[in-house]
Amino acid sequence: MQIRTLGKDLRVSAVGLGCMGFSHAYGAPTEEKEAIRRIRQAAEMGYTFFDTAEVYGTPEDPHINEQLVGEALAPMRNQVVIATKFGMRFDFESGKVPLPLIPDSRPETIRQSVEGSLKRLKTDHIDLYFQHRIDPQVSPEEVAEAMKELIREGKITHWGISETNEEYLRRANTACPVTAVQNRYSMMARHYEPLFPVLEEMNVGLVAFSPMANGFLTGRYGKGEAFDPKNDYRASMPQFTDEAVDQNKELLELLQSMAEQKKATPAQISLAWMLCKKPWIVPIPGTRKPERMKENAEAADIVLSAKEVQALDHALDSMEMSEVFGGTKLSGQKK
Ligand SMILES: NC(=O)c1ccc[n+]([C@@H]2O[C@H](COP(=O)([O-])OP(=O)(O)OC[C@H]3O[C@@H](n4cnc5c(N)ncnc54)[C@H](OP(=O)(O)O)[C@@H]3O)[C@@H](O)[C@H]2O)c1
Repeated sequence: MQIRTLGKDLRVSAVGLGCMGFSHAYGAPTEEKEAIRRIRQAAEMGYTFFDTAEVYGTPEDPHINEQLVGEALAPMRNQVVIATKFGMRFDFESGKVPLPLIPDSRPETIRQSVEGSLKRLKTDHIDLYFQHRIDPQVSPEEVAEAMKELIREGKITHWGISETNEEYLRRANTACPVTAVQNRYSMMARHYEPLFPVLEEMNVGLVAFSPMANGFLTGRYGKGEAFDPKNDYRASMPQFTDEAVDQNKELLELLQSMAEQKKATPAQISLAWMLCKKPWIVPIPGTRKPERMKENAEAADIVLSAKEVQALDHALDSMEMSEVFGGTKLSGQKK
């Protein structure tokens, strides 16, 4: 697979593998041995960038995904880039189902988190350490200082912020240079596009999470899908309701027709659209299925001209679409 550079020097496959779904949010966790086998298959296909987090697991076993990723990648540790995240934990006191995650980026918590992640990932350093969510109780400078120390100690080599806004990013980057942000970005969730000029100016990459709108943009999920509300977050995602399938008819048709033109699939077009937009965008689609890993990786070979990307943007701007999970707008944004 082609290689892209995040920030100054972090070289990763153009499409990374989001590993969350093996353990969290998309139904029951995949059996451990099987999950390890599939992550290794991804590496054989050319994926060199793997994304996990301290909290991708079940409330009973919150760190299961990091363990899995660590075990799977241990034999090829020096050939791959591992991104993980700190700064979130299950809120056991809330009593809600599923249990919500709450932010906690106090420096003392970060210290504990990094030690746990290093152990579970079976490594002496984390390549890209993301703050999972901004913690309103902790300033960006304090978090950046903690990152600076971890870099000095060799425990992490690069850091980033997930779901950040411009002000937080600028302040954090001044205290300790940021390599990438990891924000939600897809054809259905474009609210971070106003941040692009800032990322370009600061030479910060964008790792795009949920790049296929949690799978909806693949066109493989229609009416009557039955997701288990106990462990499958899609059960409450607005884009998967029967009504949304009707509201998004034009979007799915657009993807299908572009796919036919390019001899590709809608999933591949949804990824190629962002890959061809900026050389510093790296989507991390999540899948547990090897044939889909291959399909998603091949999106990096699809060429959409600047005109084609613009035409897609224009069409997206003007069509009706349903709400999408997490598609909140940046404060101060008019649209
Ligand atoms: N920073 C954050 O706060 C944050 C939040 C969410 C996610 N993430 C990261 O981003 C990664 C990706 O996001 P995501 O999993 O939420 O959304 P996504 O990549 O947009 O969609 C994943 C869903 O699409 C399905 N899928 C994947 N490829 C497909 C294909 N070619 N055809 C049909 N279905 C396909 C997967 O099902 P199967 O597994 O059954 O194929 C899965 O249910 C995660 O794994 C995680 O690492 C980060």
